[in-house]
Amino acid sequence: MRIAMIGSGYVGLVSGACFADFGHEICCVDKDPAKIEALNRGEIPIFEPGLSELVAKNVREGRLTFTTDLATAVKGAEAVFIAVGTPSRRGDGHADLSYVYQAAREIAAAIDGYTVIVTKSTVPVGTGDEVERIIHETRPDADFAVVSNPEFLREGAAITDFKRPDRIVIGTEDARALGVMNEIYRPLYLNQSPLLAMSRRTAELTKYAANAFLATKITFINEIADLCEHVGANVQDVARGIGLDNRIGSKFLHAGPGYGGSCFPKDTLALIKTAQDYEAPMRLVETVAAVNSQRKRAMGRKVIAACGGSVRGKTIAVLGLTFKPNTDDMREAPSIDVITALQDAGAKVRAYDPEGMGAAASMLTDVDYAKDAYDCARGADALVIVTEWDIFRALDLGRLKATLAAPVVVDLRNIYRPEEMRRRGFTYVSVGRS
Ligand SMILES: NC(=O)c1ccc[n+]([C@@H]2O[C@H](COP(=O)([O-])OP(=O)(O)OC[C@H]3O[C@@H](n4cnc5c(N)ncnc54)[C@H](O)[C@@H]3O)[C@@H](O)[C@H]2O)c1
Repeated sequence: MRIAMIGSGYVGLVSGACFADFGHEICCVDKDPAKIEALNRGEIPIFEPGLSELVAKNVREGRLTFTTDLATAVKGAEAVFIAVGTPSRRGDGHADLSYVYQAAREIAAAIDGYTVIVTKSTVPVGTGDEVERIIHETRPDADFAVVSNPEFLREGAAITDFKRPDRIVIGTEDARALGVMNEIYRPLYLNQSPLLAMSRRTAELTKYAANAFLATKITFINEIADLCEHVGANVQDVARGIGLDNRIGSKFLHAGPGYGGSCFPKDTLALIKTAQDYEAPMRLVETVAAVNSQRKRAMGRKVIAACGGSVRGKTIAVLGLTFKPNTDDMREAPSIDVITALQDAGAKVRAYDPEGMGAAASMLTDVDYAKDAYDCARGADALVIVTEWDIFRALDLGRLKATLAAPVVVDLRNIYRPEEMRRRGFTYVSVGRS
């Protein structure tokens, strides 16, 4: 099938490369010329394990191309996916749909013949209706259908998630469009990933419900962790004790500094706004969002407490900046709140991240960047682990202790064992493990 992918960011590029790998002919479009030039030179603008090889293979085999020219990509395509950003609208937290609507107008002007327009971006209920209206208005003669196909991939494991999804959600009541979607996803269907057909509005809401539920699960275990610290219990044992219950499940029960990233913060906020607009407020999700946003800065206070109540004039080493490992994505990363809280309290911050320092440099000020974990720890008064990259899981603890000015480690991801750290002479603070 010929498919145009509008937006070549984390979702568009991964989806485009994976669809090409299934055998479809994909043209990825982006309005950012620098991104397209880089892709055409064979450079991948984001860090995602395996993506570079997958893109190179499909470009080489002639199934994957990149352009800034939306009209050419859309002409003759049987399906056009919209995978542009839907960030929080400044000021009120609603999803900013301007990129989606702009893409819809440009697509409308270019389609010829029956075309299925698929919203892969995360969009509030009713956005598909508006995309349909825009296309009708721009091109009253156009023969098309608008389908919702939310994406559930996780950064850092995006290719596996895309190729082996737990489910594929297709929102349409148009039988012809459903036929096209079935054909696009046929290779996955053969792998027995269930394809769930539902109404367009239901599909749109399903994506928000999934993210809000996961954000709630994380926030729940984080609050249990705080209670553990007060009552002398261990959150990891609690998580295992409840997670083995199939009704609960063990995923997303890792206590930590609060969720961040490009999806959960903005999607919970957008769901809250939609629910308020429809006079069906989601008080639970409202609380989750509020608890989480306070938590991230509270982690800065946790570090200050571990340093004896003051960090003024002290150097704090921060390991891990991205919102999770195996990505270079810094959007809403907890490290931002932790670092700003430390700087506000008078600390000097030195940081190291395997992939995120480039993006961090444009979001944080007055941070020194180190060349590895030990360089980061050099002469520091405390070390904070914010993101659990694999290379931070097996640090040489003897070397680390000798490198630090004071042996204080605050492990916001619980990757070390408290007994061992204490035995080795560290003042060790983690989350929910007294
Ligand atoms: N990142 C994730 O893990 C993830 C997972 C699931 C769903 N989503 C959703 O997918 C959508 C995209 O997210 P992302 O992280 O890939 O965003 P991104 O910011 O990485 O990429 C969006 C791209 O779209 C381009 N763009 C914007 N308007 C355009 C236009 N009119 N024509 C061509 N290109 C245009 C931008 O230049 C940018 O490169 C969002 O709605 C997001 O919520 C993201």
